[in-house]
Amino acid sequence: MAEVRFNIYRLNPETGGDGRFQEYKVECEKGDTVLDCLNKIKGEQDGTVTYRMSCRSAICGSCAMRICGHTRLACSTQVSGLLEIYEEITLEPLQNFPVIKDLVVDMKAYWEKIEAIMPYMVPDAGEPVPEKERLQSPEQFDTVFEVATCIRCSACVSDCTSLEADDKFLAPAALAKSFRFAGDSRDAADKERLTELVKEGGIWDCVRCYECTQVCPKDVRPAEHIIQLREKALNNQMEKSVGARHVLGFMESVGHSGQLDEGKLPMFAVKNIGAKISMVPIGIKMFLKGKLPLKHKPIPGAEDVQRIYKKLEGE
Ligand code: FES
Repeated sequence: MAEVRFNIYRLNPETGGDGRFQEYKVECEKGDTVLDCLNKIKGEQDGTVTYRMSCRSAICGSCAMRICGHTRLACSTQVSGLLEIYEEITLEPLQNFPVIKDLVVDMKAYWEKIEAIMPYMVPDAGEPVPEKERLQSPEQFDTVFEVATCIRCSACVSDCTSLEADDKFLAPAALAKSFRFAGDSRDAADKERLTELVKEGGIWDCVRCYECTQVCPKDVRPAEHIIQLREKALNNQMEKSVGARHVLGFMESVGHSGQLDEGKLPMFAVKNIGAKISMVPIGIKMFLKGKLPLKHKPIPGAEDVQRIYKKLEGE
């Protein structure tokens, strides 16, 4: 192949200063991954470049980093594929994490959130303890198969837009891990888990941007499993949180008139009187801009929407 330009983020806490990019040129062979090139840079040009790696087989998850603006595994990202789109390769540390040095980040908050979601099976205490393992059918295992393949690379956390706005958000990795147990036929702590997950920073704080699902190198699909946790919460009558009420209000409005009643939804979602009053000025502004009609009318063909709702309810 040819000479490829790498722009690598550098930050040395010992010398201080802001982070900067440093350029390296690497002779790349056909089939080289980003990690192969990083190893060439470290071995042949600059031993101070710092990054994490271990398995080189997309199994350990330690080499996740931002590559040309998206989080990927360096060991499974081919340089040739990147060059079809980009002229040079930019490497940055994971987002949403404090940087320790160069491409290495501090994962402390990440592991604390994993610990917070009870990352273990809680069997039914009333059931007799089996002589050997607790069995489940292949179909039951299929429910949690995707989440069980997570390699804890934290690519999903790095590209999570909700976490960027609020660092208390549990974030996709911990929530997907929670579904690993909440969705398991052998676990009996659904209620306990969900009671925590519906609180602030939990399942209702995901904005469904699907970035996590898009960047996950193992197709764990965290966003889809967060939605499954929401369904579980609603099926368990956990409907008091703003998020749950927002969903129920949305469904009610569209199911009735075929379109969203923008004026009614926030009032339905928020129960607190003070919070309701604080929304009045926004409502007035919306009304003056013509975005809030005085009377919410059904759309033509609303009966068709109602029929779809009825069918779905029946199922
Ligand atoms: S080095 Fe283990 S996943 Fe890349």
